[in-house]
Amino acid sequence: LAYIPAVIIHDKDGFQAISLQCTHLGCTAELRNFGFECPCHGSRFDQTGIALKGPAVAPLKNMRVEQSQDGKLRLFTT
Ligand code: FES
Repeated sequence: LAYIPAVIIHDKDGFQAISLQCTHLGCTAELRNFGFECPCHGSRFDQTGIALKGPAVAPLKNMRVEQSQDGKLRLFTT
């Protein structure tokens, strides 16, 4: 069983999920007013996960989200 921190965003287009696992060395990024920031080495990402400041260069990973008919959300890690 793997633990992958993520944030779920609900807007007019539906649900989206972004992994908070930093693409530098895997620390957990934290919410900030501009998007996300990694506490380990200071990488910053915008609200869609795009890298704004290194050392990370790759974006945070988007994760697939499905909503069942009873309203439950299922988040896919692969
Ligand atoms: Fe996130 Fe290094 S692990 S900046």
